[in-house]
Amino acid sequence: MTLQIEDLVVEHRSPGRPVVRAVAGASLTVSPGEVVGLVGESGCGKSTLARAVCGLNPVTGGSITFEGRPVTPLGLRRRTLTAVQMVFQDPYASLNPRRRVGDQIADGLRTAGDRATTPADLLERVGLPREFAARHPHEFSGGQRQRIAIARALAARPRMLIGDEPISALDASAQAQVATLMRDLAVDSGAGLLFISHDLSVVRLIADRIAVMYLGRIVEVGNTAEVWADPRHPYTRALLQAIPRPDGMGVLPAELPGDVPDPANPPAGCRFHPRCPLAMDVCREKEPAPGPVACWLHEPA
Ligand SMILES: Nc1ncnc2c1ncn2[C@@H]1O[C@H](COP(=O)(O)OP(=O)(O)OP(=O)(O)O)[C@@H](O)[C@H]1O
Ligand SMILES: [Mg+2]
Repeated sequence: MTLQIEDLVVEHRSPGRPVVRAVAGASLTVSPGEVVGLVGESGCGKSTLARAVCGLNPVTGGSITFEGRPVTPLGLRRRTLTAVQMVFQDPYASLNPRRRVGDQIADGLRTAGDRATTPADLLERVGLPREFAARHPHEFSGGQRQRIAIARALAARPRMLIGDEPISALDASAQAQVATLMRDLAVDSGAGLLFISHDLSVVRLIADRIAVMYLGRIVEVGNTAEVWADPRHPYTRALLQAIPRPDGMGVLPAELPGDVPDPANPPAGCRFHPRCPLAMDVCREKEPAPGPVACWLHEPA
């Protein structure tokens, strides 16, 4: 396995406020060349998990190993970590407006010690004209900028790509293209891809496996087609049923019925039980064991 997340706990602490256990015992693996889609409502801990994998959030408990070595907080060394590269939601914020895009891509090539590849080569790989290297980020559309951000990530020769909502700021027409591009680049280079998105139709399109997160835990994980055909956790069912279009395409609704509980003060037992139409007594008392489906309805006898 390239990336192995085991029983991960990540807490946010801010002065005068309760500790927020944003990731509360999550396990997930991503293999080389595999695309894993991570979905769940806003605030369930997806970004916190992604940032921890990149060494940007300190780990409170559990472990993250990448290619057999533990991931540790990066601090100022973060830019030189080449193996895991993250593509963020907002390409406007992640590119430097004052520098030519070719120079920004060249930084990554230098870090990776790659003298054979040019920034123009990478622009070509992400479907942009080579001569864009001489221009500045403001000259491009959102979709083009995100392609540039991807080219910059690729320059570092990552063995793991993480996209944290990389398409949600883009026009509808660019969304599927950029998602498919990330998938193709990851698969072709043998890198894993952890793809976080609210857009379930895009996740369905590009992910080999899907992981469903709820309030800091992975509640269901499985082959994308199988989860779609037969969602087993009541939360996964609720998510899929909430998709507006009958062909299964569409964006996650902002809210399902019932509120997401405060992660600083999660419900006892199964975290989903206050919103679950099928909750039983045991669900209020004991947390289900982690597994492909973390639910008392699916607990082996
Ligand atoms: N720096 C921080 N300090 C305190 N709490 C935080 C911090 N970052 C995130 N949180 C809290 O941790 C929880 C998980 O947040 P996170 O951003 O990981 O969720 P998410 O699944 O990425 O949500 P979204 O879909 O909106 O991006 C939320 O309750 C959030 O308010
Ligand atoms: Mg997020």
